[in-house]
Amino acid sequence: MKEGKTLRFGILGAANIARAFAKGAATVDGVDIVALASRDASKGRAFADEIGVARVHASYDALLDDPGVDAIYIPLPNTMHAEWAIRVAEAGKHILCEKPLASSTADAVAMFTAAKAAGVHLVEAYPYRAQPQTRKVRELLDAKAIGRLQLIHATFGFTFDKPGDIRLDPARGGGALLDAGSYATSFVRMAAGECPTRVMAAARWSDTGVETTAAGTMEFPDGLLAQIWCSFGTAYHRHALIAGDAGMIETTYLNHPPEGGAPTVYLRRGTTAATERETIETAGGSGFAAEIASFRDLVAHGWVGWTGATPQESVDIVATLEAFAQSLKTGGWVDVRRVPLA
Ligand SMILES: NC(=O)c1ccc[n+]([C@@H]2O[C@H](COP(=O)([O-])OP(=O)(O)OC[C@H]3O[C@@H](n4cnc5c(N)ncnc54)[C@H](OP(=O)(O)O)[C@@H]3O)[C@@H](O)[C@H]2O)c1
Repeated sequence: MKEGKTLRFGILGAANIARAFAKGAATVDGVDIVALASRDASKGRAFADEIGVARVHASYDALLDDPGVDAIYIPLPNTMHAEWAIRVAEAGKHILCEKPLASSTADAVAMFTAAKAAGVHLVEAYPYRAQPQTRKVRELLDAKAIGRLQLIHATFGFTFDKPGDIRLDPARGGGALLDAGSYATSFVRMAAGECPTRVMAAARWSDTGVETTAAGTMEFPDGLLAQIWCSFGTAYHRHALIAGDAGMIETTYLNHPPEGGAPTVYLRRGTTAATERETIETAGGSGFAAEIASFRDLVAHGWVGWTGATPQESVDIVATLEAFAQSLKTGGWVDVRRVPLA
């Protein structure tokens, strides 16, 4: 793509995940990561050299003021997403924000309100949503391939115990629920096509005060039930099962297949144990590359280009996670305070 039509990205923070993001971006036409900001200039320079970025800013504000940047990728600690997404919007740049979008529903709504006021796009990064594997699941659901949905289960767990990491720090939005649990919750929200009305959850905790393993149940307005699991203390697993009254779908909703396995979707059209299980193979690759290409198309052509969570889905995911967190405190059912976006 010619200069002037390239979407010029900046990255806020020398975050670990930005390495994979930059690797994915390098394979996408019409996108260029042109700048990076770090609180520590020398760390920023070294990181920029490593991932192949030319310009380094020694403050986040300087990146927001950079006229050569059209869009900003935010991989900051979860508690910082809201403040910086709003500031980026006010600077007139589009935003691809890491998951979970925010740590409260009020913050999520404020972020979308700021983006709308500034006339920029704001979306949440879930690489699996851009994968052909997930798009096939959505196609089957849209076609009512398994009838009316009755039950959904989504889980994501792995072994993680890195002292000092943001995931183990309650002050920086740590915990399995906001980390792995946001994936499982987002999958359920996508498959259900609606927001749950109430939730209940239980958890096990780390010494630092974040939940390391959690399980949650969701009720939906039309009778659908769903459950999520998430953990920092299990062997790697990532799986989702959707059971309808006329069939079932299984998927691993992978971010970057073949990492994690082959991007297969299993489908049963029928209701008995004898129903044959169809195996549907899909293409894989970097979910960041697919997500970045979709973000580029969103900016160029509007919502038709975007495969990821819509703003309303993102608000609903945050509202659900917030209700789960509240249930961990009360031990009972908590209503999901869904806020419809204007
Ligand atoms: N989509 C995915 O597959 C995926 C995977 C992993 C993580 N994530 C998300 O990406 C985000 C970052 O995760 P990560 O593991 O890459 O984090 P990380 O390596 O800890 O990076 C976070 C960056 O934020 C900046 N920062 C600013 N204030 C900070 C503070 N008070 N404490 C710590 N860092 C601060 C730092 O950059 P400077 O020091 O350079 O300013 C730091 O490098 C999280 O929201 C996480 O949920 C998404």
